[in-house]
Amino acid sequence: MEPRRLQKQGQAEIANAVGGDDASFTGDRALVVGAYPVVIALKEAVKGEGGALSGWEIQRPDDARLAEAESLAHAIGLTVVKAILAPLRAIRPATYLGKGRVADFAVLVRTEKIGLVIVDARLTPVQQRNLEEALKTKVLDRTGLILEIFGERARTKEGVLQVEHAHLSYQKSRLVRSWTHLERQRGGFGFLGGPGETQIEADRRAIQERLDRIEKDLENVRRTRRLHREARSKRRLPVIALVGYTNAGKSTLFNRLTGSDVMAEDLLFATLDPTMRGAALPGGQEAVFTDTVGFVSDLPTDLVAAFRATLEEVRYADLVMHVRDIAHPDTEAQKADVLNVLTALGVDAEADERIIEVWNKADLLDDDERERLKNMASRRDAASAPVLVSATTGEGVETLLEATEKRVRPALRNVEMTIAPEEGAAVNWLYEKARVLDRTDREDGWIVIHAEMADAALKRFERQFPEAAARTTNGVGLVAS
Ligand code: GTP
Repeated sequence: MEPRRLQKQGQAEIANAVGGDDASFTGDRALVVGAYPVVIALKEAVKGEGGALSGWEIQRPDDARLAEAESLAHAIGLTVVKAILAPLRAIRPATYLGKGRVADFAVLVRTEKIGLVIVDARLTPVQQRNLEEALKTKVLDRTGLILEIFGERARTKEGVLQVEHAHLSYQKSRLVRSWTHLERQRGGFGFLGGPGETQIEADRRAIQERLDRIEKDLENVRRTRRLHREARSKRRLPVIALVGYTNAGKSTLFNRLTGSDVMAEDLLFATLDPTMRGAALPGGQEAVFTDTVGFVSDLPTDLVAAFRATLEEVRYADLVMHVRDIAHPDTEAQKADVLNVLTALGVDAEADERIIEVWNKADLLDDDERERLKNMASRRDAASAPVLVSATTGEGVETLLEATEKRVRPALRNVEMTIAPEEGAAVNWLYEKARVLDRTDREDGWIVIHAEMADAALKRFERQFPEAAARTTNGVGLVAS
């Protein structure tokens, strides 16, 4: 693989302002360190659907956390040379990790030619800098890593802007705090190599100016998005948002549901921006599907804020499909993480009736597990029952679409129209906007059409074709106009 450079989000001017190449690294050989504090009394992980679920009480086993950090590193194409658990009894203020560990890792970095050490924790700028000095290599913490991933995956203009905003805010906070601590501590050698207060001030100003510009651009993007949303709601198209833990299979399912080919990768965060696509449900009802960014545990709150606009689609959706990798050993903890992010977005995840759980990757289950899950699903209320599917094989997808249609379809009226020979336009209109069930062409040239249509469509028909509408029956009597 080509040597890669991180931090490509920053503009050249900013890179110069904050010390050029200092924040970059070359080389894709990484060491992942699971620096998790030793938890004395592990709260019992809630297993199974039955138990009360509270995200904050769920503690993943350390090796699962490390495996997740490793897959995050894979997500930006790094080669993980080693992933090591480093349980912490105490956090060292200066280096986060203990002295012995730092020394061991420094040897490893040298012998294994490691270009990047990822510490799966939230490091202070001082800790990061000190570790970089001791290990003689670039160090990234969890927030930094997630930012890099988001940076790689941003596809739309909005996504790129949001990531850049989050990145710069992160840099800016490091710039300030690292200076105040480091300058004093280490006598004039700043985090980003800046010579002193004046330089730091200038750097901050440059970053702030860029941040202001991005905010303006983002506001424009948001306005456009709002207009689109309004246009959709005028057409009364139901919106179905797919959310889920990263790698749960949202994009794959989205493709299945809409027949589109939005890229799906065996990488995390393949989807950074909501992708919208219209599709017809089995009964003919049209709907808009929207794919969203994958959630991840410990998503830093400022990142949640950065993606708030993107995720706003979720708030306004008529139906939210919570796609879960039901075959994943951590599936319950992932669900809790997703619900937490939803809550942070102002969606009352526990009570919201718009959420339907999609248990994906059914093909990976063994027979016993599949039976157990089917039983569990069938014990739920039919209206809120999870649907077991495989986005890969297509199993269960039809059931999911039918369940979706039941939940989003506006009440349809069953109508019979008798249309005069000269009213051909009304016939065409019906084929376009209603669901035609039956058609009889009479010998006198009149056409009788039996159709299903939403109230709103019927009202429009009445306005556009008042004469034909006056001859409409809906099985009960004449439709009032
Ligand atoms: P992010 O964009 O990271 O949030 O991921 P995502 O939720 O959109 O997941 P994506 O659709 O990219 O799928 C992730 C991986 O899971 C890919 O390798 C898919 O091929 C695989 N996958 C998705 N659905 C299924 C499924 O039903 N069965 C199996 N076996 N694999 C699946």
